[in-house]
Amino acid sequence: MNLVNFLNNILLIHIDFIGEIPKELGSLSELEILSLANNSLIGTIPLLIFNLSSLISMDFSNNSLSGSLPDNMCQHLPNLEEFYMSYNQLTGPIPHNLGQCRMLDSVMLSNNQFGERIPRETGNLTLIKNLYLSENNLIVGRVPAAIFNISTIKILSLCGNQLSGILPSTAELPNLEQLPLFGNNFSGSFPSFITNASKLSLLDISNNSFSGFIPSTIGNLKNLEILDLKSNYFTSSTPDMNFLSSLANCEILRVLRLGKNPLNSIIPSSIGNLSISLEYLNINDCNISGNIPKEIGKLNNVIELQLQDNELTGSIPNTIDGLQNLQRLYLQNNKLEGFSPNNLGQLSELAELHLGGNKFPGTIPTCLGNLTTLRKLYLGSNKLTSVIPSTLWNLEDILYFDLSSNYLNGSLPSNIGNLKVAINIDLSRNLFSGNIPVVIGSLQNLQNLSLGYNRLVGSIPGMFDHLISLEFLDLSSNKLSGVIPKSLENILYLKYLNLSFNQLRGEIPARGCFANLSGDSFMGNLALCGFDPQLKVPPCQSSTHRKSKVLLLIVLSLNIAVTLVVLVFLFVWLKCRKKDKKLPSNIDMSPQETWRRISYHELVRATDGFNEHNLLGKGGFGSVYKGRLDDGMEVAVKVFHLQFEEAFTSFEVECEVMSRICHRNLVKIITCCSSYDFKALVLEYMPNGSLEKCLYSDDNVLDISQRLTIMIDVALALEYLHFGYSTPIVHCDLKPSNVLLDENLVARLSDFGITKLLGEEESMIQTQTLATIGYMAPEYGREGKVSKKGDVYSYGIMLMETFTRKKPTDEIFIEEMSLRRWVGESLCSTVMQVLDTNLLGRDDEHFSSKEELVSSIFSLAMECTRESPAERMGIKEVAIGLINIRVEFAKFKVNDAQGYQIQVSFLHFLLINCTFDFSSNSITYL
Ligand SMILES: *[C@@H]1O[C@H](CO)[C@@H](O)[C@H](O)[C@H]1NC(C)=O
Ligand SMILES: *[C@@H]1O[C@H](CO)[C@@H](O)[C@H](O)[C@H]1NC(C)=O
Ligand SMILES: *[C@@H]1O[C@H](CO)[C@@H](O)[C@H](O)[C@H]1NC(C)=O
Ligand SMILES: *[C@@H]1O[C@H](CO)[C@@H](O)[C@H](O)[C@H]1NC(C)=O
Ligand SMILES: *[C@@H]1O[C@H](CO)[C@@H](O)[C@H](O)[C@H]1NC(C)=O
Ligand SMILES: *[C@@H]1O[C@H](CO)[C@@H](O)[C@H](O)[C@H]1NC(C)=O
Ligand SMILES: *[C@@H]1O[C@H](CO)[C@@H](O)[C@H](O)[C@H]1NC(C)=O
Repeated sequence: MNLVNFLNNILLIHIDFIGEIPKELGSLSELEILSLANNSLIGTIPLLIFNLSSLISMDFSNNSLSGSLPDNMCQHLPNLEEFYMSYNQLTGPIPHNLGQCRMLDSVMLSNNQFGERIPRETGNLTLIKNLYLSENNLIVGRVPAAIFNISTIKILSLCGNQLSGILPSTAELPNLEQLPLFGNNFSGSFPSFITNASKLSLLDISNNSFSGFIPSTIGNLKNLEILDLKSNYFTSSTPDMNFLSSLANCEILRVLRLGKNPLNSIIPSSIGNLSISLEYLNINDCNISGNIPKEIGKLNNVIELQLQDNELTGSIPNTIDGLQNLQRLYLQNNKLEGFSPNNLGQLSELAELHLGGNKFPGTIPTCLGNLTTLRKLYLGSNKLTSVIPSTLWNLEDILYFDLSSNYLNGSLPSNIGNLKVAINIDLSRNLFSGNIPVVIGSLQNLQNLSLGYNRLVGSIPGMFDHLISLEFLDLSSNKLSGVIPKSLENILYLKYLNLSFNQLRGEIPARGCFANLSGDSFMGNLALCGFDPQLKVPPCQSSTHRKSKVLLLIVLSLNIAVTLVVLVFLFVWLKCRKKDKKLPSNIDMSPQETWRRISYHELVRATDGFNEHNLLGKGGFGSVYKGRLDDGMEVAVKVFHLQFEEAFTSFEVECEVMSRICHRNLVKIITCCSSYDFKALVLEYMPNGSLEKCLYSDDNVLDISQRLTIMIDVALALEYLHFGYSTPIVHCDLKPSNVLLDENLVARLSDFGITKLLGEEESMIQTQTLATIGYMAPEYGREGKVSKKGDVYSYGIMLMETFTRKKPTDEIFIEEMSLRRWVGESLCSTVMQVLDTNLLGRDDEHFSSKEELVSSIFSLAMECTRESPAERMGIKEVAIGLINIRVEFAKFKVNDAQGYQIQVSFLHFLLINCTFDFSSNSITYL
C-alpha cells in the first residue's frame, strides 16, 4: 500500500494528500510516530491529536495547515521528542506550555505566521538540540535569556522575525553549531559569548543593528565555515581590520561577508592568510580605501569577490589571475584606475565582471575577449577611449553588455550581431559614429538597447521590428535621419522609445506600440509629423502620389529579392553537391562546431551494430535506432537509407533545419554524421515514444487535459517554426507518429525530413508530394502547394484524431465519409458519438460543461481544416483557443479534486471500519 503505512505504532502518509486531517486519527491512542509531512493538508489540527499521549514524533511540516496550536498543547504529550510544523500557515502564539513537553529534542516551527513573543517557558526545554522559530515575521520583542542557558542546544534559528533588544553578554553554549539570527533588529555590541561557542560553524547575524568592534577573538571559532556580519553598524578597532588576521585561524572558512558596515579601513595584506577554502568574500560598501593588496591572489578558491562601493584606488593587482575559480568580480563604484589587463584575461571561469563607475583609462584590454564564459560585462562610467577592440565580439554568450558613458569612438561593426543571446546592450553616452548596423535587428533576445547620446547617422533600420523581445529602445540625441520605419509598430512589448533630438522626418507611426507614446519620445527632430495632438508635432499631409512611388519601389525590390533568393539557393545547392562528391568515406562531422563529435564507431557501439532489437521505427528514408553513447547518454539515431535519392535531400534538409532551430517543443539534435555512404542524425531519446503509440496503447490512457497539453505544445512548436525564425519553416508532415513525448509527457515535434524553408513568398510549389495520406492538406495533394496553412490543416486532422482515437485512414472512412466530415456532423448532434470513449462518461459530475468544451475543441479542429487555405485559422490563434479551453478544464479539477477525495474517503474508511492491531501489524475489517 503506497498511501498509508501502518507499521508498529507508526503512521506515515506520503503521497499528495489533499484535505483536512481526519479526526479519527485521534483514536489511535497507541500511535508513537505520526508523519503527514509533505502533503496538501488544509484546515486546523484536530485537538484530539494532542491527546495521543504515546506520541514521540509529530510531523506535519510542508502542508497548508492553518489555525493556532492549543495553548496547553503539551498537557497530554509527555513523551514528545520531535515536533515539526514548519512550512504551514499556522497563526497565534507559540503555546505557553511548550516547556512542559520536557522530552523535546527538536522543535521546528519555521515559516509560519506565529505571532507575539517567544514564551519564557521555552527556556525550560533543557534537552532541546534544535530550535527553529525562523521566518515567522510576527515574533516581536526580546528573546528570553533562559534560551541562551540551554547547554544542549546545537541549532538556534531565529532569523527572519522582528526580534529586538540585546543578547545576553554571558551564556554557556558549548554545543552550539549554528546560530542564524539574520533579518531581525537585534542591537548592542557583538555578543561576546559567541566566541566561546567553540563548535560554531555557522554564524549569520546579518541585517540587524549590531554595533561596536568586531572582536579579534573571533578567530577562536576554529570550526567556522560561514561568517556573515553584513548590514550592521560594526566598525574595526584598528584602521587595518585586525580581526581579519585572527580569522586566519578559521581553516575551513568558506563564506565571509562583512559588507555594508562602516569599517573605514584598508584591506590588510593579511587577507592573503585567510583560509584557502574561502569561496565567497564580500567587503562591499564599507568605506574601504587604499589599494587592493596583491595577497588577494592567494585565495585560489574564491568564486565571488565583492569589493564594490568603496574608495579603493590604484590598479587591480596583477596577482588577480590567482583566483582561478572566480566567477563573479564586483569592483564597481570605486576609484580604480588600472586594469592589469593580461591577468584579467586569465580568469577562465569568469561569468560577471563589474568595473563600472571607476576611472579606468585608455583602450579596453583586448584580452577581455578571451573571457568566453562571460555573461555580464559592465564597463560603464569610466574614462575608456578609442574603438571597441574587435576581440570583444567573441563574447558570444554575453547577456549584459554595458560600455555606456565613456569616450569610445569609431563606428559600430556588424560583428555586434555575434552577441546573439544579449538581453541588454548599452552603448549610450559615447562618441560612436557611422550607421546603426542592420544586424542588430537579428538579436532576438534583446530587451534593452541604448545607443543614445552618440554621433550615429543614417536611418533607423527597418529590420528592428525583428527585435521581438525589445522593451526599451533609446536612440535619442544622435544624428539619425530619414523616416521612422512603420515596421517598428510591430515590436509588441516595447514600453519605452526615445527618438528625440535627431534629424528624423515624416510621419510618426500611430499603431501598435506607438499608440501609447507621448511627445517626449519625439522631441527636437527635423520634420516629424503625426495625427495625434499629444505628440506635439504638426499634422501630416497625406499624399497618394508618394504612396504609388513607394509601391513601385516595393515591387521592384521584391523582384530583386526573389532573384537573389533563387541565386543563393542555386549556389548553396551546387556547393553541397560538390562537397558530397568529394567526401572521403570516413566520417566527416557536421560543420556545426557546437555539436558534439561522435564517430561512426561510437554509433555502432551505441546501437549494438544497428541491431534490430534497438529499432524504434522505420520511415520512408530511414530507420531510427535507440542507442547509448559511450558516456551513458541515451539517444535516438536516425540512419538514412541512401539507396533512395530522396534520402540525401531529406538528410540535408533535416540537418539544416535542426541546426537552426531550438524550442522546448522540438526534438533536440545532438549531431549530424555524414560521409559519402553513411548519413545519420543523432537526436535526443524520447522515453515515452510517439503520440501515436500512446494514443493507441491500452495501458496508459492519456486524459483530456494531457491530450490538450500535448496538442498545445505541438501548436507552440508550429508557431515557432512558422513565425519564430526569419525564414518561415513549414513542417509538411505533421502526424501523431512525428510527435514524440519526453519523460514528462511534454510533446516534441520531430522528423523534419521533408520540411520546407519558405522564402519571402507565402507559399511554394513542390513537384513531388511526399507527405502522408490522410493528414496532408488538399491543395498540397492536388497541386503540391506548400504553405503554413497546409501545416494548420494537418494539425486540425491530428487534433481530431487525438480526441476521437480514430485515424483519418480508418476503414470506417469510405467513399464520401471522412474523419473531418464525421466530426463535423457530430457537432450538430452530440460529440459523444465521436469522442474517444476513454475520455468522458455521462456519469461525470460536470458532464454537460465538459461536453461543451470538447465540442469547442472539435470546432477549432474544423476551423483548421477548411477547404480553402485562406479561411483556415493561424496556428497562433489555435494555440490561444486551446489554452483557453485548458483553463476551463482546470477549473473542474480544482472544484471536485476527485482523485484526492477518493484518497481521503479511503482513509476515513480505514479508520472507521478497521481496527489496527499494532502488535501483529495487521488490519482487521470490523
Ligand atoms: C483529552 O483527554 C483529556 C483527559 O484524558 C480529556 O479530558 C479531554 O476532553 C480530551 N480532549 C479532547 C479534545 O477530547
Ligand atoms: C518553567 O519556567 C518557568 C519560568 O521560567 C519557571 O517558573 C518554572 O518553574 C519552570 N518549570 C519547570 C518545571 O522547571
Ligand atoms: C543562566 O545561567 C546563569 C549561570 O548558570 C545564571 O546566573 C542565570 O540566571 C541564568 N539565566 C537565566 C535567564 O536563566
Ligand atoms: C568564555 O569562557 C571562559 C572560560 O570558560 C569564561 O571564563 C568566560 O567568562 C566566557 N566568556 C563568556 C562571554 O561567556
Ligand atoms: C601570514 O601568515 C604567515 C605564516 O603564518 C605569517 O608569517 C605572516 O606574518 C602572516 N601575514 C600577515 C600579514 O599576517
Ligand atoms: C496603452 O496603455 C493602456 C493603459 O495604460 C494599456 O491598457 C494598453 O495596453 C496600452 N497599449 C499598448 C499598445 O501598449
Ligand atoms: C528622450 O530623451 C530626451 C533627451 O535626453 C529627454 O529630454 C526626454 O525626456 C526623453 N524622453 C522620454 C520619453 O523619456
